[in-house]
Amino acid sequence: MKVVLAYSGGLDTSTILVLLREEYGAEVVTVTVDVGQEGELEGVEERAYELGASKHYMIDAKEEFVHDYIFPAVKANALYEGKYPLGTALARPLIASKLAEVALKEGADAVAHGCTGKGNDQVRFDITLRALLGDEVEIIAPVREYSLTRAKSIEILAKHGYSVPSIHKKYSVDENLWSRSIEGGVLDDPEAEPPEEVYQWTKSPLEAPDEPLYLEIGFEEGVPKTLDGVEMGPVEIVKTLNSLVGSHGYGRIDYIESRVVGLKSREVYEAPAALTLVEAHKDLERMVLTPGELRLKWMLDAMWSDLVYQGLWIDPVKKHIDLAIDSMNKYVTGVVKLKIYKGGLMVVGRNSPYTLYSEEKIDYDTGWYPDPKEAEGFIKLFSQHQLTAIKTRKEKETIPTEDPL
Ligand code: ARG
Repeated sequence: MKVVLAYSGGLDTSTILVLLREEYGAEVVTVTVDVGQEGELEGVEERAYELGASKHYMIDAKEEFVHDYIFPAVKANALYEGKYPLGTALARPLIASKLAEVALKEGADAVAHGCTGKGNDQVRFDITLRALLGDEVEIIAPVREYSLTRAKSIEILAKHGYSVPSIHKKYSVDENLWSRSIEGGVLDDPEAEPPEEVYQWTKSPLEAPDEPLYLEIGFEEGVPKTLDGVEMGPVEIVKTLNSLVGSHGYGRIDYIESRVVGLKSREVYEAPAALTLVEAHKDLERMVLTPGELRLKWMLDAMWSDLVYQGLWIDPVKKHIDLAIDSMNKYVTGVVKLKIYKGGLMVVGRNSPYTLYSEEKIDYDTGWYPDPKEAEGFIKLFSQHQLTAIKTRKEKETIPTEDPL
């Protein structure tokens, strides 16, 4: 049997590699997808071969991740439950698609991943893999199947004579270009403030510089293209924002998240670039879209985030939503000026060739005024429904008399 394993180099997937070889007697091909999880990639390939992989694929998917997953998320102002920029959720379908590609190329009988049975990632991996590979290729998830714990994993590695990574991990971390997620340990107490040690991408606002950081982000059709007037590639713009904005203490999230699998979990994230880009993009939309477009888009945006969170990247309805979101993003071109100061961020200016705002018209002293008769007439018609209802109900005394209306 030939198995293609999504391999991160961590304890769980290392144990799975050994299990698949020693217990299943499988030939294991490992795949590591680089979505910007800096630091975690060092020595992964060596480790895979040391544990008996027959072949290792290291796939740099950073550019694709930003271009095909992160930028669409910016266009959709993606924040699951208004809070989480979906870093992990966005990376899963991409990693699964690379896994499927290798599985087809290698003629594998099965694909394997290290997701647990109580998380969202199993849903995201399994659905994407099934969509791409059909039912022919088996999906093996040993952590889910055997409820592998840390202790069990260490035991299995030791039993087969392999060294165990010595670093004691206090938290479960998942990181990529879009966000860094920290779960577990003391964070499981929803009342306890996250200790400073959980944060790596963001400075404590208390230690942030005393001078505010001003930034100008240029968008073209909803996609960020320039930073302070300088054109930047997709990966570069995200990385630069993470480090610049993070150094001013902005980008921390702490909230109770609704998982797909019926549990609430306490989630802590760092996502400076994500929060900044979504905030700026949303602001520009307010300037260029009509009220109707804005309201339609906010509904579609929420649906988009739910679908991605739930692992339904491949849901046909997402294509329709994407078309509408893209169509409205045609006008989201312009520059947004931001001020970041000690953990806070504010949009302090914006401009766009598609602006629907007119400084000339809005001025109270010199600007445009409607014909007073027209204004009066408009208000009369506009309020007919409400005034008629109030009058009718008063007459029928169905409104309590102490009600001022
Ligand atoms: N709760 C997030 C999600 O489901 C992130 C999970 C990341 N995993 C981790 N072990 N930190 O998308």
